[in-house]
Amino acid sequence: MSQNNFYITTPIYYPSGDPHMGHAYSSILADVFARFKRNDNNNVFFLTGTDEHGLKIQTAATKNGLDPLMYCDKISLIFKDLTTKLNLSNDDFIRTTEKRHHKSVSDLWDRLVRSGDIYLSKYKGWYSVSDEAYYNSDEIIEKNGKKFSTFSGSQVEWVEEESFFFKLSSWQKKLLEFYDNNSKFILPISRRNEVVNFVKSGLNDLSVSRTSFTWGIKVPNNDKHVIYVWLDALTNYLSALNFPDTNDRLYKRFWPASLHVIGKDILRFHAVYWPAFLLAAKIKPPSRVFGHGWILSGDEKMSKSKGNILDPLEIIKKYGIDELRYYLMKEVSHGSDGNISLKSLENCINSDLANNYGNLCQRIFSFVKNNCNNKVIKTKNISAADKKLIEQTKTLTKDLRDLMNNQNLNNYIKSVINISFLTNKYINDEEPWKLKNNKEKMSNILHLSLEQIAKISILLNPIIPKATTKVLESLKINLKLTNMSFLDGKDLLSKEIVVKDLNILFKKIN
Ligand code: MSP
Repeated sequence: MSQNNFYITTPIYYPSGDPHMGHAYSSILADVFARFKRNDNNNVFFLTGTDEHGLKIQTAATKNGLDPLMYCDKISLIFKDLTTKLNLSNDDFIRTTEKRHHKSVSDLWDRLVRSGDIYLSKYKGWYSVSDEAYYNSDEIIEKNGKKFSTFSGSQVEWVEEESFFFKLSSWQKKLLEFYDNNSKFILPISRRNEVVNFVKSGLNDLSVSRTSFTWGIKVPNNDKHVIYVWLDALTNYLSALNFPDTNDRLYKRFWPASLHVIGKDILRFHAVYWPAFLLAAKIKPPSRVFGHGWILSGDEKMSKSKGNILDPLEIIKKYGIDELRYYLMKEVSHGSDGNISLKSLENCINSDLANNYGNLCQRIFSFVKNNCNNKVIKTKNISAADKKLIEQTKTLTKDLRDLMNNQNLNNYIKSVINISFLTNKYINDEEPWKLKNNKEKMSNILHLSLEQIAKISILLNPIIPKATTKVLESLKINLKLTNMSFLDGKDLLSKEIVVKDLNILFKKIN
């Protein structure tokens, strides 16, 4: 069967402090989409990494008494390690201090110079080091003598220096046309509207170089300037495919990117600046930018500066990685913010994982072991209850591919958990434990239950890969060989199956 290519990215992280739950959320979300696409027979390239230049990192390095590169070497490793702890399936991890990236940024810069989109002038205005972003005067408020961005709440400083500018203003019309022609370029729709309104309200030219510090990629042929960290950082998505070698196998296969998964705070960079740079450089823009909401603690964005952090590594140690992944994916709904707490994490583990999916697997596998010696055979005599469950499952699986392809993970999870709930109910109603004298009917019930478990496990695999892999191994299903054609109604199990024992999947929290 021929495969489609799917290139998905996370934002590359600032190594300016320890990773927190917001980082974990962004990465796991992208990982779930990447895993689903792989399971659904796509050829996937999934990228993550670290964003190591700019004033923010230079300042963090100085604070730690380290040279910026030594500092980045150290912290980038912590983020790389996080990819393993979060069980991410990334194919590459890029650092913006790598040579391959430097080459790619310089080339993009040269293209923008050649297209006449870059000119030298002077920047006078507000800058937030924490966001590495420029703000207009009407986006600033004053509190206790200090100035802050109304957009992000971060403190800003006044900057006046010689700078190269990108002619963003001249791309307004073309960007609006681009959004019009690509109606799903920005999802969810609410974010698309935000961006379209912002662009409609007029665009200023963008300062794309700095002279007051040195930690960055130098402007080609002008050592005084370093390239603006966002122009540098966004280009990572090209660098990982070996751009500027546009004949490279990776570039040819995977560009334009299929999906950039990002937080809503960095939407402007991805949905306005990035396509403008690319259109100017005559490179096709990505197909989609999905802006997810924030993880909140109380009503605030969870962040180090606010001191309201739930440490993902501590949660993983105490509850497990599948548990954390499932909770974050379920709790934060499609593009909106999600408020997380230990209490709701524990409730979610108990209700969905331990009592629902975990219990379904446990009860069926132990029943099959104790009563059938792990061997189950299906006959032709399908009951009305069997038919009903099969139909209900078909209805619930019908839209799953579409939901995933529109990043609507929340409704996807609801449907899959509902299939698990209905299967548990079917077993309660059919009471196979009372059918020891009707082996044929009992065996049919168990077979259908195992078929349901197989489907649910494949569907939940992108979210809880560890537990579902155990179940699929016990069912002797090789995920790499099984595509998701069962979504179109096909069965997964053969008529006669021999399963392996399955140990407990999720512990209930008391
Ligand atoms: N370095 C830039 C991205 C450059 S991409 C070319 C950056 N890094 S970051 O480390 O600050 O943030 C990385 C991602 O984590 C962003 O998508 C951001 O939205 C996300 N989150 C950071 N805090 C968050 C929450 N509290 N909740 C959810 N995600 C948030 O931005």
